[in-house]
Amino acid sequence: MSKITAAITAVGGYVPDFVLSNKVLETMVDTNDEWITTRTGIKERRILKEEGKGTSFLAIKAAENLISKRKIDPKDIELVIVATASPDMKAASTAAYTATQIGATNAFSYDLEAACSSFLFGMSTAAAYIESGRYKNVLLIGADKNSSFINYKDRATCIIFGDGAGAVLFEPNEEGLGLQDELLRSNGEGRAFLQATYGGSSYPITQEAFDENKHCVFQDGKTVFKNAVFNMADVAERILKRNNLTNDDVNWLAAHQANKRIIDATANRINLPEEKVLMNIEKYGNTTSATLPLLLYDYESQLKKGDTIIFAAFGGGFTWGSIYFKWAYNS
Ligand code: COA
Repeated sequence: MSKITAAITAVGGYVPDFVLSNKVLETMVDTNDEWITTRTGIKERRILKEEGKGTSFLAIKAAENLISKRKIDPKDIELVIVATASPDMKAASTAAYTATQIGATNAFSYDLEAACSSFLFGMSTAAAYIESGRYKNVLLIGADKNSSFINYKDRATCIIFGDGAGAVLFEPNEEGLGLQDELLRSNGEGRAFLQATYGGSSYPITQEAFDENKHCVFQDGKTVFKNAVFNMADVAERILKRNNLTNDDVNWLAAHQANKRIIDATANRINLPEEKVLMNIEKYGNTTSATLPLLLYDYESQLKKGDTIIFAAFGGGFTWGSIYFKWAYNS
């Protein structure tokens, strides 16, 4: 019997309607469209504005989109993983609420958090369940409402992040398609350079911290940038080498959308021309756990059965990695 591999068999996506453009940001902080575009590649990002709606709202919309496109019965879904760095609430699983709301009432569910690498690491987790033979379908959702902890007076962060969600269904494949290899890493020394300090268990929120926006994300952009460029390019290059792949064998690079210059550096390291690099950062900015599935969502019609995709991500923690993947269907 051939080995069971874990393939993606459907994709869904959702971004909120509200568009926060560079032009509007110019009126909020000391920045300009030209600076943001040349330094990051971002033109606009989406923001979930409605009060009381959190990450699960985005996750549910993306999952419902997948379910209606694929015409599956949500009751057949066995596991729902929500990869997110912005859960709805403390002490209540965002995934459990999401699963129930989409009608996946026979599934168990949980959240998975690895900052901007959450979805990439979630791919590894979802695939392992399928490869084990214990489950036949796993819904992996990457969703983040970053606007809930962005300081819109801090030009080093508010220009970068946006809200969104994407969902993929993992199912067994007997043609050898799906996840082929992975190289996943982390280094806790990195948390000094990218974190929201207050509001977690180390430093519960105080009035003073709140007034100073210390519950919002802070980053030393230069250090994060250097580490992202070095590490994402490194793992992408290594995964190609150890699978004896050349740049000609790769159809697409699907890299975390944090900064166009980081993506370009990764593509350059593995000698991939621009037309093989999936890119939508200009429309959404950095949506954390949603960047990779939103790339699949936007480019789904161009992906062909058997295509080789190199996924790569880098995020807070630090966390990073690369996955070598074979696409399983024509849409
Ligand atoms: N608008 C205009 N000017 C800005 C600015 C903004 N939004 N942000 C910073 N600047 C200024 C700085 O003050 C600095 O001015 P100075 O030279 O007079 O001191 C200059 O632009 C260069 O700043 P620097 O921080 O070196 O810019 P950069 O090229 O590193 O770009 C980031 C800043 C944040 C875009 C970039 O570092 C980055 O993308 N980092 C990684 C972010 C990331 O990926 N985070 C998520 C991890 S998944």
